[in-house]
This record gives sequence, C-alpha cells and structure tokens, in this order.
Amino acid sequence: MTTLLSKINQWWTRHHGTAHRSPPNLWSATLLLPLALRASAGELNLIPWPESVEVLPGQFALDAQTSVVADAPLATAGEQLRTLLKLNSPSVNAPRRVLLTTNGAANLGAEAYQLEVNSQGVILRAQTAAGAFYGSQTLRQLLNVDTRTLPAVKITDAPRYVWRGLMLDVSRHFFDQATIFRLLDWMAEYKLNRFHIHLADDQGWRIAINQYPELTKLGATGNFTDTNAAPRFFTQPELKEIVAYAACRYIVVVPEIDMPGHAGAATRAYPEIDGGVHTYHPAREATYDFLQNMLREVATIFPSPWIHFGGDEVNSSGWKNDPQITEKLKAEGLQQPQQLEGYFVRRMAKFISQQGRVPMGWDEITAANPATNTVIFWWRQNKPEVLAQALAAGYPVVLTPRSPCYFDYPQDKSYQNFSWKLFNTPEAVYDGPKIPAPVTALQQKNILGVEGCVWTERIATVPYLEFMLLPRLTALAEMAWTADSQRDYGKFSARLQPRLEQFHQQGIHPYNPAEPAESLREATATKKNQPTASR
Ligand code: ACM
Repeated sequence: MTTLLSKINQWWTRHHGTAHRSPPNLWSATLLLPLALRASAGELNLIPWPESVEVLPGQFALDAQTSVVADAPLATAGEQLRTLLKLNSPSVNAPRRVLLTTNGAANLGAEAYQLEVNSQGVILRAQTAAGAFYGSQTLRQLLNVDTRTLPAVKITDAPRYVWRGLMLDVSRHFFDQATIFRLLDWMAEYKLNRFHIHLADDQGWRIAINQYPELTKLGATGNFTDTNAAPRFFTQPELKEIVAYAACRYIVVVPEIDMPGHAGAATRAYPEIDGGVHTYHPAREATYDFLQNMLREVATIFPSPWIHFGGDEVNSSGWKNDPQITEKLKAEGLQQPQQLEGYFVRRMAKFISQQGRVPMGWDEITAANPATNTVIFWWRQNKPEVLAQALAAGYPVVLTPRSPCYFDYPQDKSYQNFSWKLFNTPEAVYDGPKIPAPVTALQQKNILGVEGCVWTERIATVPYLEFMLLPRLTALAEMAWTADSQRDYGKFSARLQPRLEQFHQQGIHPYNPAEPAESLREATATKKNQPTASR
C-alpha cells in the first residue's frame, strides 16, 4: 500500500503542485492499482497482450548471480536481454539462469516465443532471434524494477499480423535522427516491425542522392509551414544508421519516394522532369532515367525487401496540350492523358521488381493493374470497393484506412477544428480497421497487416508529434499483435495508465483520454510546441 500511496502522491504533486492539498481523485487512484497489484493475469502490465498467459505462484528474483545464457542462434538476442535486464555476462556455471533456447521451439512461428518464469529462473524459447527479441521485450515489461523480480508465469505468444507498421512523413515537416531513434525504441518495445518513411513530397525532398545534388539544395528547402525554411534532409550515412538502429530492433525501414504525384520538391530541383501540377512528366524518358538512377541509390541505402513508390492523388491536369504527351499516348495505344498514370505505375513497379525489391503503393495504383506481387496500401476507407478489388485481384494488402489509422487526425472529439475535422480516438485505433462486407474470409488471408500513418502537414514540433503518437502507438501495437479474441479495450486502458505516467516522467506529454483538455494544454504549453494552424 505504501507504493500505491507514494505513486498517488507523485501523480498528485505533478498535476497540482502540492502533495495532499486535497485528496487525489478516484480516477487517478483506481487507475494506478495495476502498478501495485500483480495478482492475476489481468493485472500483468503487458502491452501488447500475449496470446496466452498463465500466472503462477511465486517469483524469480534477479541478483548478482543471475546470468543470461543463450543458444548460438539466439546469442545476439541474449546480449540484448542482458543489457535490458542489467545482468552479468554469460556463464554456463551460473546457478540462476535466464536461458534463451531454440530447444522445443520447432513449432513456433517466425516471431513467436514461449516464456516460462519460475522461482529457479527463466526459459525463453524461440525459433528465431526475432522471437527471442519479442520474448525479451515481454520480460522487460514483466520486470518490477524496484524489487528486481519477475512474476512466475507461462506465456505463449505470436503476432496477429506479420506487418505491424508505422509511417512517418518527414517531408511536410522534417524530424531528425534522434527523434526517429526514440520512435524506433517505442516501436520495438511494443513489437511493431515496419518503419515506413515518407521521404519526398511537394514540401521537401529529404534524402541525399549523390547523382542529383539539387534535390538536397533546392528540393530540401522549405516545409509545410515555411516555404523558405533552411534545407533539411538525411545524409546517406544518417539513413544507414537509422536502418542499422532499426535492424537491431527487428524493424525493417521501408523507404517511400512518392510518384508520379506529390513530386513538387523534385520537380522544383529538376524542372526538366516537371509534368505540371506537382507531377513528374510521364512522357519524357528523362523522367524515367532520373527515377531509376535515384531508386538505384535508394536501394543501396535501404536493404528493405520493399520499396514504396507512392502513386496516390495524382493530378494529371497538367498533362494536356503537350506534344510529348500526345506522342506518347499514340505510341502506347492510349487515348486520354490520365491513362499515362497507369503506364507510369506499371513501368515503375516493374523497374522496382527488376531491382529485386517488392513494389508497394497507395491504393490508387490498383487501377493500373501492376504485377500481382505489388503490395497495396488501402488508405481510402470511403472506397471499400478498392480494397475488395485489390484482394480479389490477388494483391497483398496493408490496411491504413484514414479512419482509424491516420495519427495526424486529432485523438479527441473536443479537438475538432484544432486540426483536421476527423478524429481517431485510441479506442478506434484499438478496434482497428473495419473490413468491408464484400471481402471474404479467404481474401482476408492476403491482408499482411496494418500501419499507423503520421502525416505531418499539421505536426511541426517534436512534443506535438509525441502527443499525436502516444498513446495511439500502443493501441496500434496491441491491435496489430494481439488476436481479436484476446483484445479488450477496458483492460488495455487499465494497462495503459502506468505508461501514461511513465511518459510524463520522461518529459513526454501523451494524450490522456481521461483528461483531453488538460493533456492538450500540457502538450502545447509553449509556443514552440504549437501545431500549424488549421486551414
Ligand atoms: C495519402 O494519404 N494520400 C496516402
């Protein structure tokens, strides 16, 4: 009870200045309970919630005698766990062990693990290093850092989806490497595994390409708030560091270069490939030479099996009354200039495949019928027929419908008009995308997973970015990892409360569903933290 009271005191002091000026409200007291009581499975403080959890009597205490021992294929994961738990170097003779083993793991899937904690030690079984890494994240969450004890448990766990993504737009406003490292840390803790980075759009080109230096001079100048802002972009070594940092956390970084629309920054830098309204010129070979050379360089930076080439919201109105367009239409047997969009998409998807990478694009590209290895990102939830079409045609799909997957939409109804008019609550994120009726159960097998998208037209600062991400990132993670049958928003909310507290202690101001006005005020307290104004 002492712990509980001191927690309430800390909470109260932080929010109201003086401890015990008046009694803490019931809401704070009730929601802090899971921190103090660990009596049953429902009260283990785990996010995302595992497939099956059995809480046993007793606990395992970590001490100076405890070491991590790992089978050879899991050696790196063992080192990482040793660091996470602040334990000694491996020693097979150590009497009290945390053992990482592939024994008995033959039937576990690629990211699955089994965990057994009893008074003698810990056995973490996994077939792969990724599985051992996820088991280690669970152990880290189970550890009571005050008493250095782990509760006795048996856990079996595996993800719902193979694709558990988060997208960040660094074009509209640039976010630096340190911010991305922090984001990758959160992704790893919550078992997300794909970081999709939107590197180029009308407002800025953010990746250095040696062959095209104007991209990072003219192209990287400006952002959504200020078209004259000093150039901001990642150098290739910086991007390689991001890739390596993510890889240690079993996260693949997927680069996106949007085309043929959203190309304003590139065409500003290289007007000879400008096709009009923020598009590349679809009929000039110079465009394809540029794009292919640029993508070859992109591929040297990112080992990702996938390259995302955008394909959304193409405005082809600039493709009229142009003799080169007329000539190209004739050569390709096409009638309307906008049909060159399909030509462009098929050609670029084919090029990416020829480079040994899998092409990915937003759902507009479905209409172009690219090769069926192409992955479709369904974002227009008002067009359920497009998802149905893509799945019926055999495309693998990642679900990113604006509702509930866009994290630039506010978290709360009371924030309407503060930014976009739509809003996505953590609960809506937790419930996940609605799969429209025409999609059959069989077709759903081709859904790779889900992704939260952070577009940054309205997000200009790191504190506001964190406010928009948290706690929705945790809701996304549980929705993406945990099977439908195991998900319960009420229980998730209870497990979330100590984390909101932890974020506060780290100087981060997450959105708090119980105190929307207060949490917005905290996150935007200084002028520096303000998002850009509503249009
Ligand atoms: C998008 O939101 N234009 C993919």
